[in-house]
Amino acid sequence: MSFKGTDIVSIRDFSREQIDEILDLADKMIPYARGDKITKALDGKILSCLFFEPSTRTRMSFETAINRLGGRSLDMGTPSMTSIVKGETLADTIRMLEAYSDVIVLRHPHEGAARLAARFSQKPVINAGDGAGQHPTQTLLDLFTMRKQKGNMDGIKVAMVGDLKYGRTVHSLAEALTMFGAELTFIAPPSLQMPKETIKQVEKLGGKPKVKSKLEEVMSDLDVLYVTRIQKERFPDLAEYQKVAGMYRVELDALREAKSNMIIMHPLPRVDEISPEVDATPHAKYFDQAFNGVPVRMALLMLVLGGEL
Ligand code: NCD
Repeated sequence: MSFKGTDIVSIRDFSREQIDEILDLADKMIPYARGDKITKALDGKILSCLFFEPSTRTRMSFETAINRLGGRSLDMGTPSMTSIVKGETLADTIRMLEAYSDVIVLRHPHEGAARLAARFSQKPVINAGDGAGQHPTQTLLDLFTMRKQKGNMDGIKVAMVGDLKYGRTVHSLAEALTMFGAELTFIAPPSLQMPKETIKQVEKLGGKPKVKSKLEEVMSDLDVLYVTRIQKERFPDLAEYQKVAGMYRVELDALREAKSNMIIMHPLPRVDEISPEVDATPHAKYFDQAFNGVPVRMALLMLVLGGEL
């Protein structure tokens, strides 16, 4: 399939073969992502960033990716300094960016915003997170990281822990990992468990996820521990957040039970879910994971913009 001109809105829009194609290209992008090799494959192309929510890694790795490919990026900047405060709609803003650039990267607090934006733009729209919905490009870099670390995702045991309700990264990742044959366990307090919608989709794809509330019960069995931040900004009531904040924290001690090659991943930013002492252990892969955002997003930009090496 040609990806040229395709929107990247939900991981559901992609087959396993298509995901493999993206990850294979990401592999080839690594020397360019590191700056060891130079390319002008996307010379003249402009990427625009439209971020209505905070971001460090996603926005900057997209900007790095287009720069490393010889293109340029435009950042709309803080929404409060744009015509959005004058009442401009998302649809009109998107129409402007469509006129000014070749690809639009959008992060928005509302679920479904990227799908809506894609409808208003002939140019490809990439979903960089829509509320508690999906985060497909994070999922691709998470899969890339697991593939690199584990070789194959078939049958690997992955536990997702933390805020599975509001954490969008785990929604798209749970579905994608099921397509690749991973066995999933969802660990969260009952109030933050994986949404029924995602569990249903995982089951439809043939998965049999386990639902638990204690990490200790599964630690010794895991190949991957995927830790998430409690999404404070999405709690309607701060008192509810206080009840669950700090509930899961991965400490050195708990890792004594883990397999020696078990890896810990986290989309970042972390608050206090992983003790900094864990960073120096061979389990910690979250900073490698963050770097992987560059080659994976380079591959995506090459595909949607039709670049050639
Ligand atoms: C995540 C997000 O924005 O969903 N961050 C990211 O993109 N790496 C996770 C989070 O904010 O907790």
